[in-house]
Amino acid sequence: MAQPLQPTNEAGVLITFEGGEGAGKTTHIRFLAEALQGRGREVLCLREPGGTAIGEQVRAVLLSTDNDEMAPEAELLLYEAARAQLVGQVIAPALARGCVVLCDRFTDSTLAYQGAGRGLDESFIERASAFACQGLAPDRTVLLSTGGTATDGLMRATHRGAADRLEEAGLEFHMRVNDAFQRMAAAHPQRIRCVVSDKRKSVTARAVFRAVADLFPWMNEPDAFPEGFFERLDVSRGASLPKLGARAADFDQAGGR
Ligand code: TMP
Repeated sequence: MAQPLQPTNEAGVLITFEGGEGAGKTTHIRFLAEALQGRGREVLCLREPGGTAIGEQVRAVLLSTDNDEMAPEAELLLYEAARAQLVGQVIAPALARGCVVLCDRFTDSTLAYQGAGRGLDESFIERASAFACQGLAPDRTVLLSTGGTATDGLMRATHRGAADRLEEAGLEFHMRVNDAFQRMAAAHPQRIRCVVSDKRKSVTARAVFRAVADLFPWMNEPDAFPEGFFERLDVSRGASLPKLGARAADFDQAGGR
């Protein structure tokens, strides 16, 4: 049952979800959003690139297989442009009013895909991302991985529909991306917490909650979650979760106040 709304002076929290293709981030973002809303928090679920009208148009340009002539430098700047719009228009104001923002991909993806994947200069990417974010950085990053090879993840991702321009970048590209994520996690163990997807979603979800529990002290109370709370995920296939699907309009707000 929903708890009373928390006071509005609660600090905003930005949690990003990262990982290679097909790691299953969406289900776990939706599930965490639902749990936090149940405790009265305002929660915004966003995706990058996207989350604003401008960002969704940029996303379409970035992912369209028609744009296979796109230069890596243009690709980088388009990701940063979508990010600048999202941070300025949505994330910064949401954090200022005490919202929990859950973002499917953020700056680590740019380092992994455009840095390790495309071979662009990492220190330039870091500066471009800092510029786009106006100094804002995630409080926590959950790095989800399949535990298998890049091929497993790619197969899972493309099974959901036709491959997009990034998914078509090739196996070696995606292996470099996955390795880069692991290196970043090793370099920033306090911010980036690794979760390996289990075939039971309840097991993965528990690990995701553990990865953020220090940010939400109620999660550590003995009866924080009713019996079967996590196991519901194994049978419901996510059907009862807030709808934050593939379409942009579905993926920009998970309700709340
Ligand atoms: P997704 O939201 O379906 O994962 O699609 C976004 C794609 O864009 C995915 O292949 C990762 C890629 N990407 C980058 O290459 N750089 C970035 O900065 C971001 C945010 C995503």
